[in-house]
Amino acid sequence: MPSIKVHDKEFEIYLSEHDIQEKIKELAKQLENDYKDKNPLFIAILNGSFMFASDIFKNLNIDAEICFIKLASYKGMKSTGNVITAIGLDQDLYNRHVIIIEDIVDTGKTLYNFLPKLQHQQTASLKIVTLLHKPDATTFPLKIDYIGFSIPNKFVVGYGLDYDGLGRNLKEIYQLAQPV
Ligand code: IMP
Repeated sequence: MPSIKVHDKEFEIYLSEHDIQEKIKELAKQLENDYKDKNPLFIAILNGSFMFASDIFKNLNIDAEICFIKLASYKGMKSTGNVITAIGLDQDLYNRHVIIIEDIVDTGKTLYNFLPKLQHQQTASLKIVTLLHKPDATTFPLKIDYIGFSIPNKFVVGYGLDYDGLGRNLKEIYQLAQPV
């Protein structure tokens, strides 16, 4: 089984480039069916979702818009992890069909804290698409509308996801290897 080293840790291949790209085509078909003639606005959450967002958007053959935001949690000068600010969100969301693009939903905390910000803006609809979901790790009550792969609760890297800054450029997704 091909494995790689990122920083000090060994990772084993978990999803091939082919697996990922086939799943993205499936997700794009579903989104096309659900959003035809609605000119949806995709909001991709940086950094991790940049590759997934790009590939899913390329596979959509309907009118659609995309923007990219970063999330930061602040209370005054101190990070609390509770109050989420979106950097780069300058679009008017009123009456828009909005779809958030995430790379992975782990505990669900990030999106759970961020969603109310968007709900205030009276969107026509608000949905979430994520490439990866760790159901066993998700403790915040989130409705995820489109899921690429449900995966075990193990750390993964590649295809946009990093381990301490590295691994984002890998075309495949790798899972932390079991210690021997
Ligand atoms: P949550 O708020 O716990 O759902 O975490 C969401 C964010 O944590 C993701 O957008 C990722 O940036 C990061 N994350 C969670 N699990 C992993 C992982 O297995 N590998 C890399 N990043 C992860």
